[in-house]
Formats: sequence, C-alpha cells, structure tokens
Amino acid sequence: MLVKLSDGREIPVEMHRIKILQNTRLIPVDQRLKAIEEGGYNTFSLRSRDIFIDMLTDSGTNAMSDNQLGASMLADEAYAGSESFYKVAQAIEEVLNFKYVLPTHQGRAAEHLLAKVLVKPGDVIPMNYHFTTTKAHFELAGGEILEIYADEALNTQSTHPFKGNIDTQKLKDTIKKYGTEKIPFVRIEATTNLLGGQPFSMENLKEVKRICSEHEIPLIIDGSLISENAYFIKKREKGYEDKTVQEIIGEITSLVDLFYASARKNSSSRGGLIATNNKEFYEMIKPWLPLYEGFLTYGGMSIKELEAMAVGLREMTDVNVAGAVPEQVKYFVGQLAENGIPVVTPPGALACHVDAKRFLPGMPQSEYPAGALSAAIYIASGVRCMERGTISMDRDKDGNEVFSDLELARLAIPRRVYTLSHIEYAIDRIKWLFKNRDLIKGLRFVEEPPVLRFFFGRLEPMDDWGKKLAEAFERDFKTNF
Ligand code: F0G
Repeated sequence: MLVKLSDGREIPVEMHRIKILQNTRLIPVDQRLKAIEEGGYNTFSLRSRDIFIDMLTDSGTNAMSDNQLGASMLADEAYAGSESFYKVAQAIEEVLNFKYVLPTHQGRAAEHLLAKVLVKPGDVIPMNYHFTTTKAHFELAGGEILEIYADEALNTQSTHPFKGNIDTQKLKDTIKKYGTEKIPFVRIEATTNLLGGQPFSMENLKEVKRICSEHEIPLIIDGSLISENAYFIKKREKGYEDKTVQEIIGEITSLVDLFYASARKNSSSRGGLIATNNKEFYEMIKPWLPLYEGFLTYGGMSIKELEAMAVGLREMTDVNVAGAVPEQVKYFVGQLAENGIPVVTPPGALACHVDAKRFLPGMPQSEYPAGALSAAIYIASGVRCMERGTISMDRDKDGNEVFSDLELARLAIPRRVYTLSHIEYAIDRIKWLFKNRDLIKGLRFVEEPPVLRFFFGRLEPMDDWGKKLAEAFERDFKTNF
C-alpha cells in the first residue's frame, strides 16, 4: 500500500508480516566476478547461493500466504477425481467466471496445447506483443505471430498509461489483409511482459472484442498477470476508480473467449491453466491433456499446488495483493529516473526495466547491451536480473540475428518477498554502475543453443571488462563507501 509520510515522500509499505524466511548472503565482488564468469555471463547460469537479491523473475518465486500453505496440507492426492481440483474449478468460476478448466503444469504447457489444437501452418496470430515461450510454441506449430501494438509501446520514455493496448486500426487492417480463415484467434496479454509489464485499458479490450466478434474471431487472453492489469485499470482508467479488483477482473474475463495463464505469477502458486466457457474449445483440448500434462484433475501439477492455487486465485483480488508489486516497481522506477538512469516509463507490473540502449549508448545490438548490463548489475551488486533483449530473440531460419525492439535489463520483483531496503540497495548499486557505465563493453556467444538461447547460452565479455568493473567497484568501496 502506498503511504504518504509526513515529509511528503510516498513509500510502498508491505501489507504483510514475515513468518517464514530464507537467509540470503552477499558474497564479495571478486567472488561475484568468478560466479558470472563460470556462468558464461548468463544470469540464468548463476547458483542461488551466489545471489543476494534474486530479481530474475516473479515466476514461481512469489511468497505464498499462510492460508495457501495451510490449504496445501488438505490436498486430496487422488490420480482422478481429486477434490482439490474441484476447489480450483470453483475458485476459477468465482474469480474468473469460467466453467471449464484444464490445469497444466506451467503456462507454456497451456500455450503448447493451444498451439497444437488451434494453430496450423500458414496461420497468423495477431497480438499486442509476444512472450518468448508463446512465440516459440505458435511458430513450432507453423503459425506466424503479428505484433500489432501502438507505436507508443516501444517508447521507453513515455507517460502513456496503457502501452499494452492493441492498435485497433492495425487489427482491422490485419483481418482485411489475411482474412478470417487464417486467423485462428487474437491474443492479448495482460501487463505485457516484454514491453515492460505494460497494461491494456478496458476501453481498448472492449474495442478489440467488438472487432473480433464482428469477424467471429475468438479472443484469447494470456492472463498470467491479470490482477496487476486490473489494478492499473483501477488506478489509471477513468470510471474504474471505485470498482474492486474483482469487479475489473470479472469485466475483463467477460470479454474473452478463452483464458490461459501461468499460475506461477498472479496466484502466487505453481502450475498453469486454461479456462473457458466455450465447450467446443474445451472438448478439443481435453483429450490431449492426459497425454502431455496429466489427468484432467491435476494436469501435471502436484495436488498441493492445486490447493494453493485455489486460495491464491481469491487472494489476488485483494487490492493490497494486486498492488503490492506495481507500487514497489513505481518506487524503484521513480528513484532511478530521478537520478537520470534510463528506465521504462510509465512503471508497469512485475519489474523495474532498465533501458540498456540508453544506459549503454553506442553499443550495437549485435553486442547484446541488455545481456552486458544484466551481467554488470550482478557484478556490482549481487542482484540477479534477466536479459530481455536480443539474446532473448532466437536467430531467424537463415541464421541471422533478430534484433529485439527493446533492450531491457529486467529487475523482477517477486510478490511479497523483498522489502523496501532490498530495493533501496539495488537502486544504490545501479546508480554506482551508471556512473561507471563506460567500463561496460559488449558480449559475444561462445556456446549458442538453437532455440530459446537465452536459457543455456554461454557468452564472454569483449575486452575483459567484467574484471575491470569488479576492480573499479572494489577500489571505490575501499576508499569512498
Ligand atoms: N505468458 C507470460 C505472459 C509469461 O510471463 C510467462 C512466463 C508465460 C506465459 C509462461 O509461463 O513460465 O509458467 O511456463 N514468464 C516467466 C517470466 C518465465 O520470467 O516472465 P510458465
């Protein structure tokens, strides 16, 4: 919750008490250098014990509540017909208003099933923006993704409150160009991850739905971060100030034909799900569920996770839960921006995104500025973040680099895990890094996997800059700090 202090400052106050904790440690800079060198300058390869604050992702790393942990002990461990599944189905009906539910082991498993059943070679799928696993699955099924965001979406210095909107003119043009037969569905992502966690507005969603209905094209939502999107609508869209997060979520889901999500994010649990009121979709997907995921009543998840999900789905409608990360992100982004550090604005959901193109001007995308910046942040702070730039794009089928629209170092904030002092620490070290940014040079691949290369790729620094950065940090610390 945002609290105004008597000196005028506004701070995000944590609306929970910490009952169970995990100790963390901060290793010295020379050891951080060694760890990132051993990890091939890829933050995915770091070991948890070498990380002080883990801002890689909010996926599966959110803190569960006491009620979620308590509920997980009630798991009905039946292979088929588990009562725990029916609790999830009931929560989905209450919170999302869908009657058919297909649990999956993760969000990408839901994408796999959708791609398998709905996407055929030659299809095009219009969307506000891709997510890495979405793109990979739809393309593997022979489809092509079309990103039809408004131009403002790529402006990292914007004040536009809804950069996740679909450009409705582009949607109409796309339908005209390809015809409805080639468009199996339109996809819209809540708080669009790779645009910097940027939401869509209700007004936009309604118009997208209207166009889709006119052409009888189904509208599918990736609702992995639906409660945050609802929170932004409440905070930023006229007419929604007095509505509850639950009412806004209900309005969003009433406008879509199918909902899928990674449950590792919003519901502070694990797993994934597909939910719909369209019986035809349900019947098409259902037969494949036991083959790829598990029986219908567990979908590859542990039953304990299902119980936690049922509780987490209801908890995410609490305004303090839905707003927890957006308010911390707002503080993080605000402090960095005040110090002249290039960050994506307006602040979105899930993470503070540092704009590597502006942080490291002059570094060509072929040298992976977002990857270099992410490794540098780790060396300077022990904070792990994630590259969301050209390394996160795979090469095209002819082997050429595909340069990403944005080069971002994403500092994700898992829900209810870190306090304001962790964020203050990260801000301080990024400020130091910005002053010393001339030391950061590019990266080159030494081992490059053919698909989703960002996970296992190994890189090396050009000009041994990691060592120089660590030395500068050590020097400054000894003398100035
Ligand atoms: N869709 C969105 C919007 C996501 O952010 C993610 C995962 C997925 C689908 C895939 O779900 O991980 O459960 O298989 N995002 C994580 C992240 C990995 O770090 O942003 P999953």
